[in-house]
Amino acid sequence: MRNKSKKKKFEILEGVKIEDMVAEGKCLARHDNMVIFVAGVAPGDVVDLRITRKKKSFLEAEPVHFHELSELRVQPFCEHFGTCGGCKWQHIGYDTQLYFKQKQVKDNLERIGKVPLPEFDPILGSGKTRYYRNKLEYTFSNTSWLTKEQIQSGQEFDRDALGFHIPGRFDKILDIKHCYLQPDPSNAIRLEVRKYAKEHSLPFFDIVKQEGYMRNLIIRTANTGELMVIVQVYEDRPEEMQALMEHLAATFPEITSLQYVVNAKGNETFHDLEVVCYKGLPYIHEEMEGVRFRVGPKSFYQTNADQAYELYKKTRELANLTGDELVYDLYTGAGTIANFVAKQCREVIGIEYVPSAIEDAKINSQINNITNTTFYAGDMKDILSDELIARHGRPDVVITDPPRAGMHEDVVQKLLQVHPNRIVYVSCNPATQARDVEWLSEKYDVTRVQPVDMFPQTHHVENIVLLTAK
Ligand SMILES: C[S@@+](CC[C@H](N)C(=O)[O-])C[C@H]1O[C@@H](n2cnc3c(N)ncnc32)[C@H](O)[C@@H]1O
Repeated sequence: MRNKSKKKKFEILEGVKIEDMVAEGKCLARHDNMVIFVAGVAPGDVVDLRITRKKKSFLEAEPVHFHELSELRVQPFCEHFGTCGGCKWQHIGYDTQLYFKQKQVKDNLERIGKVPLPEFDPILGSGKTRYYRNKLEYTFSNTSWLTKEQIQSGQEFDRDALGFHIPGRFDKILDIKHCYLQPDPSNAIRLEVRKYAKEHSLPFFDIVKQEGYMRNLIIRTANTGELMVIVQVYEDRPEEMQALMEHLAATFPEITSLQYVVNAKGNETFHDLEVVCYKGLPYIHEEMEGVRFRVGPKSFYQTNADQAYELYKKTRELANLTGDELVYDLYTGAGTIANFVAKQCREVIGIEYVPSAIEDAKINSQINNITNTTFYAGDMKDILSDELIARHGRPDVVITDPPRAGMHEDVVQKLLQVHPNRIVYVSCNPATQARDVEWLSEKYDVTRVQPVDMFPQTHHVENIVLLTAK
């Protein structure tokens, strides 16, 4: 019995045509009326598939042999494509990526939302499709990931790595030679830190044994030209840290914020640790239309800053502000949208879970002389209360930008009760957005849909829906 199920699990399906690109970057195929989700293929490929997972309503599979390659395919430009988890859609041209992202939004709103929809505004592509991120985080490891070819070659390889996690592997890091995600001098800094650590015998971290010194490197660039570098180490070695910091400061004088963290915890998060500013200021700035945003080592800021500006402009356009409105900006993060729209409305109330983000939001109002914002930290379903609404008034416009899970049902109920004229719903997850839109459709019509691409070469898609009171 056990053998039989094992055999079934690895069953091969021959000559299957891949039909579509769907959620989470997977492609879809069909066999005997069964839906199959497949990674690493493109619509139009004809492949033999090995079943890796069987569920009642769907299968998961991996390609084992390609008979025909899709016309939609292009040559991936990164040598790490296929191993690195970063840019999984590089084998598909950018226009095709945009087509499937828009389709994903439409499919979700139609199937899950089940509401009447207006004609969609065409998806807003990202001006930059490479080097568009302003933040990257690299991990040091003494157990570099080896590809099949490397293992089969029988050669010895340097096992120290500075790069990205292999998808699904907490303990394996791919040593990155060149990354196309962040502009210069990101690659140069990473390579220099790696070289310096090797030359000075600073041990790369062993996550399993929890030993070593070099743990993590964060590089944050900004559209103001400011540049932050944070080195994370496992233990306090003041002399070695000073030498490393001096070397970085001398080699990259363009660094405006040079920082380090000593982190002896089991994981790399440092929200609860002191970050020491060795040189320069403890923060950098991003800027939009003359509004400056202070970004500290622990602050969140949209990673594709140029496209975030496009996203916010569209959000503001859909909010249709005349200067008189009371706006609530739900899930405000560091208050970026709230401060961005503040000059075009009467007052903005921003609400966000993370207290330090709310501190950033307040600072961002202060440094821009914005005086018509008020921010609250706490869980949305508790903070967005009758008492808060009585204090500030019923919003004319609500802008909401929840996390991937979407809005809590209580928050949706509260919005139905409060009944603002317009809700501008920004989302990074079309499925949960569609669910929330269905709930809101009791009192709202969907009047605009504007997908936006923030992350070229990945399956991620952002979408703005304008809901207008019926
Ligand atoms: C998609 S981000 C919004 C980012 C922000 N609008 C911006 O553009 O920078 C979602 C935010 O919701 C916050 N959040 C998540 N769950 C929450 C909750 N239950 N209550 C309040 N805020 C929450 C997260 O901390 C995060 O900052």
